[in-house]
Amino acid sequence: MRKRILCLVGTRPEIIKMSSVVNALRETAWADLMLVSSGQHRDMAASAFSAFGLSPDIDLDVMTDNQTLSGLTSRLFEVIEPILVEQTPDLVIAQGDTTTVMAAAMSCFYQDIPFAHVEAGLRTGNTKDPFPEEFNRTVCGKLSALHFAPTEAAYRSLVSEGVAEETIAVTGNTVIDAVMSISDTAPAGIDSSRKLILMTAHRRENFGVQLENVFRAVSDLLDTRDDVELLYPVHPNPNVAARAREIFENSPRAKLCEPLQYEQFVGAMRQAHVILSDSGGVQEEAPALGIPVLVIRNETERPDALMAGVSRLVGTDYCDVRAALEELLDDEQVYRSMARGVSPYGDGAASARIIDILEVFFGFKEHRHTSDFVSEDWLAQSTGSVR
Ligand code: UD1
Ligand code: UDP
Repeated sequence: MRKRILCLVGTRPEIIKMSSVVNALRETAWADLMLVSSGQHRDMAASAFSAFGLSPDIDLDVMTDNQTLSGLTSRLFEVIEPILVEQTPDLVIAQGDTTTVMAAAMSCFYQDIPFAHVEAGLRTGNTKDPFPEEFNRTVCGKLSALHFAPTEAAYRSLVSEGVAEETIAVTGNTVIDAVMSISDTAPAGIDSSRKLILMTAHRRENFGVQLENVFRAVSDLLDTRDDVELLYPVHPNPNVAARAREIFENSPRAKLCEPLQYEQFVGAMRQAHVILSDSGGVQEEAPALGIPVLVIRNETERPDALMAGVSRLVGTDYCDVRAALEELLDDEQVYRSMARGVSPYGDGAASARIIDILEVFFGFKEHRHTSDFVSEDWLAQSTGSVR
């Protein structure tokens, strides 16, 4: 019997991370897939859809300029429920920790529709950091019928919160499926022989003085060294964009641009000497590409790359950021130890595992032990990067 699956996405990373699942579902003989965009992001969502040749069947178009969390949340609740009532899906699947995903999980709960959560179980244990994502994920953890944990650590977090073990599977992160699907064809980000720092920044808990500290550390570094340049695709959130443009206005060798299309961004990551970022997805992709990441956050729910020694949590202090960058620019040994190309977050087969488990869930297959992705094992076996 065919099943109606509704995949709900809203922001750039959700589209990137669900692209392989959407494609895999479309290839099954049993799924009728409806791809719905909440429209939490507009232009960045359009770019991410086009990178994978996808377009939503329905776009709920909720984004407003400089939206507040309450305004966004209430608009999402208003628009998601009628779609669930109209489409009567057998299961809704969504990824991550955005307000879209939280509203989707709760709307499914109210409508008694099974919700499957991709990238389940990431936790810092601090509701204020990342804000509001830690809360959003915890809500999903309470309400999901199926939890697709990317790593063993995420699996253990869910179990420790009392989630039934038979509802959790360790699959790897679908972002590695995405990056592997295009890393061979990704074009170079910049035409230069200087050492490239690639930067992204958008976290709400960093807005204000913390982001300004980071921007000044990078800008001052560029002032003093002509062997280095910056490529910074600026997130369109007005709380980031205005200050970024002001601080880097007169910076030599700072190239600020609009968000890059996924393929171009992967090309820029591959070309980077070091990546400075508060992004979740970038923390997962860069290690797989063999590029060191300095994480400009005080906490991370993605400790696996830190433990593997291929990323570092540097926070947002001016001196710490500048010192960490200088070390990676000047100390060959430290650099080589971080640029090893290991992929603690996945092996590129996460979506295949997810489909497998959905087939067990719907009774198309016998139950089996599904935790066949074990990050520590993968890390031990991993011989190199995916590039
Ligand atoms: C959101 C998510 C965050 C995720 C990030 C990925 C929440 C609360 N936040 O943060 O978890 O890591 O997306 O990028 O769910 N804007 C545009 N065009 C776009 C997208 C955004 O102009 O395509 C501007 C709008 O003014 C919008 C603002 O950015 O109001 C903020 O967007 P929002 O989705 O609320 O927050 P993000 O910072 O993007
Ligand atoms: N990304 C992109 N273009 C850019 C910057 C990032 O395609 O200019 C991709 C990046 O490779 C990753 C995703 O966007 O897959 C991360 O999105 P973001 O940092 O907005 O959100 P987060 O991962 O922090 O939720």
